[in-house]
Parts: sequence; structure tokens; C-alpha cells
Amino acid sequence: MCGIVGYIGPRQASDVLLSGLARLEYRGYDSAGVAIIDAGELTTTRRVGKLVNLQNALGTSPVAGNVGIGHTRWATHGKPSEENAHPHRDCTERIAIVHNGIIENYVELREELRATGHMIRSETDTEMVAHLIESYYEGDLKVAVAKSLKRLEGAYALGVVHLDHPDVIVAARKDSPLIIGAGDGENIVASDIPAVLEFTREVVVLHDGEIAVVTADSVDVFDLALRPVVPEMLHVEWDLDAAEKGGFEDFMLKEIFEQPKALRETLRGRMNDGEIQLSELAMTAEEIAGIARVFVIACGTSLHAGFVAKSLIEQWARIPVEVLCSSEFRYNDPIVDDETLVVAITQSGETADTLAGVREARLRGAKVIAITNVVGSRVTRESDGVIYTHAGPEIGVAATKTFTAQIAALNVLGLKLAQAKGTLGSERVQSIFDELSTLPDVVEAILGSLEELQECAELFADATSSLFLGRGVGVPVAMEGALKLKEISYIHAEAYPAGEMKHGPIALITDQVPVVVVATQGHTYEKVVSNIQEVRARGAQVIAVATSGDDDIRNHAEFVLHIPQTSEALSAIPATVPLQLLSYYVAKRRGCNVDQPRNLAKSVTVE
Ligand code: F6R
Repeated sequence: MCGIVGYIGPRQASDVLLSGLARLEYRGYDSAGVAIIDAGELTTTRRVGKLVNLQNALGTSPVAGNVGIGHTRWATHGKPSEENAHPHRDCTERIAIVHNGIIENYVELREELRATGHMIRSETDTEMVAHLIESYYEGDLKVAVAKSLKRLEGAYALGVVHLDHPDVIVAARKDSPLIIGAGDGENIVASDIPAVLEFTREVVVLHDGEIAVVTADSVDVFDLALRPVVPEMLHVEWDLDAAEKGGFEDFMLKEIFEQPKALRETLRGRMNDGEIQLSELAMTAEEIAGIARVFVIACGTSLHAGFVAKSLIEQWARIPVEVLCSSEFRYNDPIVDDETLVVAITQSGETADTLAGVREARLRGAKVIAITNVVGSRVTRESDGVIYTHAGPEIGVAATKTFTAQIAALNVLGLKLAQAKGTLGSERVQSIFDELSTLPDVVEAILGSLEELQECAELFADATSSLFLGRGVGVPVAMEGALKLKEISYIHAEAYPAGEMKHGPIALITDQVPVVVVATQGHTYEKVVSNIQEVRARGAQVIAVATSGDDDIRNHAEFVLHIPQTSEALSAIPATVPLQLLSYYVAKRRGCNVDQPRNLAKSVTVE
């Protein structure tokens, strides 16, 4: 959803901006650009396509200077073109800005600006902000930015430079993430923490409605009325290694292999003396006992974690759970009241639809618990309680380790609710938690054992369509497997409850449509095997995810991906891992960029 970066300090700004943009490229890669101030000149370099095009341009024509801003774009308004690439400038070309978000009233602003003589050059909403600042500028950049912000409707994270103020970057945010890495004699503005980690682990978290005036030695934060605000500081625990590929070919593969660690970290400290530790829930046992229903809201992969949560919470705590994608929840007049617990799952903590759902839920009196991976993200401010997954930064656009970590956190939540409701006794909670604690090792074993995967991927060599089937908790696992395959390999993939096949989708089956079936041991195992037979009878080639020791399944599937035995309720995490790797190998075999799939962005900060 666009990444922005700004640098001010003793280094060459272009180096820092390019390194920051490389770490933000997961946010969009339709075009990239920088604007750098040096010796009384503001030079803008922009290129369509991935960052490498900008890197090459700056390699051929270097731009010196110690202050600048940069941008990597995920197009919303206007096609990917050099004209629409950021940074955008005002008429005088003395102001340059980078923006992440959407200015909703840009059409109205464009008319007004044109009427007052401004030359609008691009199709973007962003350019209006540069002209607004120009029109309000009377010698004080901070004041001009503040006045301009009051005219904006929508979301923004902004970085602004002005030739008259070569020692300042002005940054501001509303509904789009922005932080400032506070270095020693240098400061770096960025959309996300990995962009600053090479230089510092001390971070100023900018809040909505705040403006920061950043020099090499200072970060001064103000509200929109330009009253000083005490900045919120954060010490980042991860180091740059955690945000780098660490010897893996792709971030996605690295992140798949980081799952044992992510699970261990997420489960750490959650059980003490038979009691689930979840103070973040910020609810008394009485309040929990009063929960009449749970609503889970989320998008994409996080939504699939929500479906896993439904089966766990209903089974363990006997509370009815409804799961809805955030964009539907918000507009569907949901039946939510003060007896409802809303669980908002969002890896990034910045997904616009989920944030809107959180607001809607709280307006209706519900208590909202967020499950997120990003400390200080927006959802953490808007919810009543926050449960962090401790998966470390996820750079690959396709979510992997954060998905399984979300499920681990939701397991803990389910157990907590069950314990407080009294639907599970302490011994049972302890024994489930003990098994949960073995999952990092189980996943480690899976990661070391799936030799057949590359061969399996061959089944998809010429496929244009595929189906993923499962029952019970296997349904969300199938949904996640299908989503991974389609987003990184561009093969159509649909997930169905296996029992639904015969009600229509079975018409799609041919020998060209590989079928992936989650067939782990459980109370519907025999039914799943019958469903496999139904699709095989129509020519389908089947890949089954099955439990170790189940050798009979080999009679029903072309390929079997075995995973260690777990209880059915806890099988979602291990069953997902082979499907993540399958989609990875299929995509690699087809030459796809797995870390940056087309048309996608890591955090979706627009509705
Ligand atoms: C898929 C994927 C997306 C996200 C979705 C929600 O691999 O990454 O489907 O899961 O955009 O993002 P968060 O969890 O940040 O709200």
C-alpha cells in the first residue's frame, strides 16, 4: 500500500533511501522515486516498475545530498507511470512530497487548485497535497503542512521537503503507518520498522493527527493545532538479521522455516500453574463469563485463522462464534452488543477494513481484542486489549509464519475463555496447552521431512485450476492453501468443504485439475477418503496431507504429505505447513516472484 521513507543526516540520502525502500518494497512495487536536496537544488528521480529500475537510474546518474524522501508505490489513483510516481512536486518545484494512503476529496481539491492557477501534472490524489502546501506556505513549512492537513479527507502518511528548508523533513500521519527511526545525528522517517533497522532500533511512533518536524538531531512532534506532543518512543527488539533473508532464497521460504520459532515465542509464558496467562485480555473472569457471543473479523489469511478459532472456541468454551471478513462486517449491521467479544485479527495491524470493523464494534458497545504482529500498529491503539503474535517481521507478501502464530495465539485465547467459563477443567486446559507446546517441534519435523514436495509441484506444471478440500478444521486449512497457491503462482485455486463437492464443484474435475485434500486423522477421516474417491473417479490427481502412519492413504492419492499425529483440534498448524511449501515450490517452478506477487501489497491500508 505504498512505502515512504525520508532521511536526514550525514550519509548520502540516496543510499539510505534506497536501502529503506528495498525493505518497504513489500508494500508496493508499481514505481519508485526519490527527491533529494543538495546545494540549493531539489532533484527528483522516478522510475516505473520495481525498485531495481530506480537503483539503476541512480547508479547511472547519482544524486548527492544528505536530505531526501523516497517512495515505493502500489497504484490506487492513476496507472503506474513516471508521471504518477512519487515524489510529487508543487508548481514551483521547491516542495516535494511522498504519500501513503488515499486522499478521498482529491477531486474537489483538484478543481479548487486548478481554479486558482495550479498546474496539476499527474492523475494522483497525492499531488494535490503538494499544491496545497504551496498555497499555504508563507515561510514556515510546518504551518503550511498543518493547514493543508486540515483540508484533507482520507488517510495519509506523508513526508515533505522544501528547498527553503534543506535541514528539515516534515512528516505527518492519519490512518496510515509512520515511524521515525531516531539515530545518532541522523533520523529516518519510514512506513515500517525494517526500513530503519540498519541505522537504529530506537523509534518514535507517530500517532494519528500528529506532525513531526525532523532534523538530523531532533524529532519534534506536534498535534494539528501545532501544540507540542511528547513523542512515544519504542525500542525495537528485533535486529536487521531478523528482517533479512538469512541465506534463504526468498523471504517467504525463510519465514516458512521460522515458524517453529514464531510459535515458541507466541506461546512463551502463556501457562503458569494450570492457569492460562492472558492479562492482555483486560477482562475479569466475571466479564468473560458474561460473553454471550464472539465475533471474529479479519481479512485474507487472518480471516482463515479466524475460521480455525471458531472451531476451537466453540468446542472448548461453548460460546457461539461468528466469523466475517471485515469489509462485510462493517456494512452489515452486525448483531453486536456489550455481551459480544470481537476478536480482530490483523498481522499488520493497519488493514483499513479491519480497523473500520473495530471502530464499528466498539461503537456498538462490544469489547475488542486485537491479535496482531506489529507492536504499536494502529489496531493496538483502537482496541480494548491486544494479544501479540511474536513472529518477528514478515516481509514476504504472502502471510505464512504470522498465520500459524495467529492460530497459536487463538488457541491460547480459546483456552482462556474455556477456563474462565468453566467449560474445561484445569487439567484438560493444561493437557491441551502441553500438546500445543509441542507444535513448534512438530512443525520443525515437518519442515525437515517433505522431500516429495518438489515432485508434487510438478502436478501443477500446466494446471490453470485446482481445488483444495477439507472437513472441519481442515476447511480453513484448505482455504489458506488455496489462497497461498493463487496469490503466488497465479493458478486458480478454490477451497471447499469436501462434502460440498458433489453439490456442484465436482463438475470442474478433470485430469488437468489437481486436487489437494487435507486428510489428517479425525472424526470425519473416512468421509474425506470417500470424497477423495469421488474426485479420483472423475480423473483428478490427488495430493493428500495425511497423518504419519496412515499408509492406506497411499492407495487413494498420487502424492501423500505426511505430518506427525496431533489431536484433531490442534491439527491446523501442522497441516498448513506442507501447503505453504507446496505453493512455494509451484510458484518457483513457474518462475514467479514469491515475495512480491503481482497486484498485491503487504498491508492494505485502503478500503
Ligand atoms: C495473504 C495475505 C493477505 C492478508 C490480508 C490481511 O497471504 O497476506 O490476505 O492476510 O491482507 O492482512 P492483515 O492480517 O495485515 O490484516
